[in-house]
Amino acid sequence: MKTFYITTPIYYVNANPHLGHAYTTIVADAMSRFHRCLGEDTLFLTGTDEHGDKIVQAAEKRGLTPRQFVDEISGRFRDLWPRLGIANDRFVRTTDEEHKRAVQKFLQKVYDAGDIYFGEFGGHYCYGCERFYTEKELENGLCPQHLTKPDFISEKNYFFRMSKYLPWLREYILANPDFIRPERYRAEVLAMLESGALEDLCISRPKTRLTWGIELPFDSNYVCYVWFDALINYISALGWPDGPDFARYWPGEHLVAKDILKPHAVFWPTMLKSAGLPLYRHLNVHGYWLVRDTKMSKSLGNVVDPLDMGQRYGLDAFRYFLLREMHFGSDASFSEEALVGRINADLANDLGNLYSRVLTMTAKFCASRIPEGMAQTEADRAIAELCATAMENYLQLFRNARFAQALEALWELVRALNKYVDSEAPWALAKAGQQERLKCVLHILLACMRKVALCLWAVMPKAARAMLVQLGEEMPDDGTPPTRDLAAEAGSLAGLRVGAQAAPASNLFPRIDPAAQMAEQEAAVAGASKSAQKVQVKDEKRLAGAAAAPLPEISFDIFKSLDLRVGTVREAERHPKADRLLRLLIDFGEAEPRQILSGIAEYYAPEDLVGRQVCAVLNLAPRKIRGLMSCGMVLTAGEGERCRLLTPDETVPAGSPIT
Ligand code: MSP
Repeated sequence: MKTFYITTPIYYVNANPHLGHAYTTIVADAMSRFHRCLGEDTLFLTGTDEHGDKIVQAAEKRGLTPRQFVDEISGRFRDLWPRLGIANDRFVRTTDEEHKRAVQKFLQKVYDAGDIYFGEFGGHYCYGCERFYTEKELENGLCPQHLTKPDFISEKNYFFRMSKYLPWLREYILANPDFIRPERYRAEVLAMLESGALEDLCISRPKTRLTWGIELPFDSNYVCYVWFDALINYISALGWPDGPDFARYWPGEHLVAKDILKPHAVFWPTMLKSAGLPLYRHLNVHGYWLVRDTKMSKSLGNVVDPLDMGQRYGLDAFRYFLLREMHFGSDASFSEEALVGRINADLANDLGNLYSRVLTMTAKFCASRIPEGMAQTEADRAIAELCATAMENYLQLFRNARFAQALEALWELVRALNKYVDSEAPWALAKAGQQERLKCVLHILLACMRKVALCLWAVMPKAARAMLVQLGEEMPDDGTPPTRDLAAEAGSLAGLRVGAQAAPASNLFPRIDPAAQMAEQEAAVAGASKSAQKVQVKDEKRLAGAAAAPLPEISFDIFKSLDLRVGTVREAERHPKADRLLRLLIDFGEAEPRQILSGIAEYYAPEDLVGRQVCAVLNLAPRKIRGLMSCGMVLTAGEGERCRLLTPDETVPAGSPIT
C-alpha cells in the first residue's frame, strides 16, 4: 500500500500558537486527509521544539523552570489542534526520551562517519536565531532576520562537515525539480548553494553556556545545537532507527514556511546523507500570513487568534478561507473582510445555494428520494465531462500543494452546476409534467454535488460530511474518510445511492451580514453597542461645503456592507394596487427567486423584463408596499422618461456580487 507521511515544523514553545502556526498545521491536516481519501496509509506528525537559549530565557521571565515552562506551552499547542479540527496522528516533543535517544544515535553515526570534528570558532551569534552568522551573511553588520547586532563569540565547538556535501546537494536539487517546491524556493536554495556563503555547521554548545539541550554522546561537556536536534524529530517520531514505522513511512514530505527554508533545504538533507539515510520526498514551502501587509507580532497587537476565528466564522469556513486565499508559496494578507467576502461569495452563494436549491427541489419533486437518471442531452454530457475534468484538476493540483488553484478548479464545477440548474430549470420541467427528464437533471446534479463534497472533505471535514449525509450517504462520525478511492471517483458520475433518503435543504453556510459583523466588532472594541450603519463623518469642514459633496463620506467598510448583486428576472407583472410599481421575481442564485417591487412600470413593460439581468441591493430591510413585500431594491439611473435599469454588459451567473 502506498504511504504518505506529512510533517509540520515543530513549533517553538516560547509563544502561544497563532494564525501562522495554525495555517501550516491546517494545511498538513488537509494534505493528510486528502491522501487518506486516495487510500494511502497516512501518518501526520506535528509537535514542539523545546530546547535552546530562547526557552531558558522565556522560562526565566515567567519564574518557571524550563521543564515546567515547556510542559505548559507544549500542552497549549497539543490541545489547540483538535479544537481546530486537526487530526494529527502523533505529537513529538524534543524533550521526549525517545527523541533524545534518536538524536544521540544520529550524532554518533555522523561522528563515526568522520563528519564531525572539533575546532575553535569565532562567529557572530544571534540569540534570536540561535545560530552563528558568517561575515558574508550579515547585512550591514546586522542579523538579516532580527536586524540586531549579533555578539561575537569565540569558543571551541563541534562542527558538522556540511560543506563536504554541498556540491552533491546542488546536483541532487538540479536532478529532482520537485524536491523543493514551489520553484521560487528551489531557486533560492540553488542560489544559496552557488553563493559560496555556506560553511560547515557548528552543532554544539558548551554546557558552560547552555545546559538545556541534548548531551553529545561523545563529549558530555557539550549539548547539541537546537536545529540539529530539532530536525531529527521527523525520524525520531517514527522510532528511528529500529521502530517499524521508520521503514513504513520514511521518506515523507515536510511542510514549512519560508523562514526556515535553509535548515530544511540545506542542513537536513546533508545530515541525512551523512547518516546514510534516504532524503525526504518533498519540501513544501509557503509564504507568510500578513496582517495589513505587516508581519504579525505581539508588540504590534495584530496577532490573529485562530481559535477565535474558528469560533466566530465556523471552523470549516475558516479552513476553506486559509487554503483558498493563500497562493501556496506567496505571502497573503489576512483580514476579516476578506474572510467574510469568501464565506459569502464562495460558500453561502455558490456552494450553499447549490445545495439548498437542489435539495429543495429533490424534496418537492421526488419526495426526497435520490432519483435515478443518466446523461441524455448535450448539456448533461457537458456537465458530466466538466465534473470529471474539474475533479482531475483538483486532484492533480492538490497533490502538488497548489491548494488555491485546486479549490478554484472545483469551484468552476460548482458555478457550472448552478448555471445548469438555471438552464435546465427543473421547476419548469415539473410544471410541464416532464417527470423523467426532471429526475435525470436532479440525478446529475446530486451526483456532481456528491463528488464536490468528496473532494472537500480534506478541507472542510465537518461540512463535507454534513453534505454527504444530506445526499443520503452513510457516514460514520469517527473521522473515517468518505472514500478510499478519490482518484477513481473522478472517472464517472457513479456512486450516488439511488433511492436513498436525501435530507431537506439546510442553511449549510449562512451568509454573514458584514454590517452586523462590523457592528459586533465595534461593540466589542468600544464596549458598547453602536450602529454599523452610522455614517462616519470624518471631516466636518468638508461637510460644511456640502454643495460639492452632497452626501457625507462613508468608510469603505460601510460601502462593502451593501449586498449588491446581479439577478435574472424570472417573472414580472404589474402590482395589482399600484400603477407605478412592477412586481418582479428575480433569481439571485438563492433557493427561491426573490420578490422585489420596483417603480418602473411607466418605463418598462413586464413582458420585456423576463430573462433580463438587473442589479439590486439585497440587504435593505424588507418593506411591505401596498400589501406586497419587497425584499431589496432594483437599481436604476436617470429620472422620468430617462429612467433606465442598470444591467451588466454581458450575462453573468445569477447572484454574482457587484464589487
Ligand atoms: N522550531 C522551529 C522549527 C523546527 S522544525 C525542525 C521554528 N518554530 S516556530 O515556532 O518559529 O515556527 C515557524 C513556523 O510557524 C513557520 O515555518 C510556519 O510554518 C509557521 N508560521 C509562523 N508564523 C507564520 C506566518 N506569519 N505565516 C505563515 N506561517 C508562519 O521555526
